[in-house]
Amino acid sequence: MIMFGKKKQVSTIDKDQLELIENAQKRIKQKKRLYIHFVLFLIGAVFLILANTVLGIGEMFKIAGIDWFVYAIVAWLFIFMYHFVNVFITNKFMGKDWEKQQLEKLVRKQQKGIDKLTENFLKKESKIAKKQAISDTKTETKALEQKNTSELTIVVAAGEQNAIGKDNDLIWHLSDDLKHFKALTNGHHIIMGRKTFESFPKPLPNRTHIVITRQKDYKVPSGVIVVNSLADAIDAARYDKQAFIIGGGEIYKQALPLVDKLEITRVHSTFGDADTFFPEIDLSQWQEVSKTTHNADEKHAHSFSFITYLRT
Ligand SMILES: NC(=O)c1ccc[n+]([C@@H]2O[C@H](COP(=O)([O-])OP(=O)(O)OC[C@H]3O[C@@H](n4cnc5c(N)ncnc54)[C@H](OP(=O)(O)O)[C@@H]3O)[C@@H](O)[C@H]2O)c1
Repeated sequence: MIMFGKKKQVSTIDKDQLELIENAQKRIKQKKRLYIHFVLFLIGAVFLILANTVLGIGEMFKIAGIDWFVYAIVAWLFIFMYHFVNVFITNKFMGKDWEKQQLEKLVRKQQKGIDKLTENFLKKESKIAKKQAISDTKTETKALEQKNTSELTIVVAAGEQNAIGKDNDLIWHLSDDLKHFKALTNGHHIIMGRKTFESFPKPLPNRTHIVITRQKDYKVPSGVIVVNSLADAIDAARYDKQAFIIGGGEIYKQALPLVDKLEITRVHSTFGDADTFFPEIDLSQWQEVSKTTHNADEKHAHSFSFITYLRT
C-alpha cells in the first residue's frame, strides 16, 4: 500500500552553519534595537526641548544656568552611547558567548588531534618494540630455518653409556673412527664448543671451524670463525648443505633437538672414569638407517659400530 503524506524535510545545513545563521540573526536583532533606541533618543530629545521651551515645563529649573532638558538629553546620550559601545565594541563580532563557544570547540578539536597523535605515537612505539623482539629472536629462528635449507648432522663417538671424553680429551684412540670422521666432515663446516676446539693441537685441515664461546674477545688462528651462540654458529654455516656439529658434551646437548641426522660411532665398552657424556637419545624420534660394525684388533682396543640415524 502506498502511503501519502508530507515528505519529511531533511536539512542540508550542517550544525556549524546553523549556529552561524542563528548568531547572525541575533546580531541583526541587536542592531535593530540600537537603531530603535537611536530614533527614540532623537524623538525624546526633541520632545524634552519642546516641553521646556514651548510648553514651559520646568522653565525656571536650571542648574548652573543651564536648562534641565540639556542635562536630561546628555544623560540619555550617555545611556545611548553605552548601548552603542555594547553592540559595536563589546559584542563586536558574534558576542562573547559565541567567542567562548568557538574557543571551547577549538580546544576540543585540538584535544582530539593530540589524542590521535598520542595514539599514533604509541602504535609506532609498540611497532619498534615488536621489531626489536623479532630481531632478538631472528637468530634463533634462523637456526630452525636452517633445517629446511640444509642438513645439520651430529658426529660423535660414544661409549655404551654415552661417555665421550675425559679431561678435555677423548678416552680412546680408534684410527678408523678418525678416518671416518675425516671422510664425513672433509670440506664442510664443523661447529664445536670452545673446549673441544682447545682439545685439538691445531685446526683440522680442509674444514671451516666454527667455535662457540661466551667470551667476547676469544682469540683464534685466522680462518677460524668465532660466534657467541649455537644459533649464530648454525647461521654462519647456512650455505653449507651439510654442516656438522662435532661436540663436545655441552654443544651436543643444545644441538640434539635441532639436527636432522646422527652419525654415531658406538664404542662397545663402558668408560667409568669419563667426565663428559652425550645426551640420552630418544629412539622413538630416530630411525636407524645404517650400521657397520668393526671388531677390535691390534690397532683398535675396542670394537665399535658406525650407526646413522635420521629423525623420524
Ligand atoms: N667423543 C667425541 O666424539 C667427542 C667430540 C667432541 C668433544 N669430545 C670431548 O668432549 C669434551 C669437551 O666437551 P665439553 O662439554 O666439556 O665442552 P664443549 O661443549 O666442547 O665446550 C663448552 C664451551 O662452549 C661454550 N658454550 C657452550 N654453550 C654455549 C652457548 N650456548 N653460547 C655460547 N658459548 C657456549 C662455552 O665456552 P666459554 O667457556 O669459552 O664461554 C663452554 O665452556 C672433551 O673431553 C672432548 O674431548 C668428545
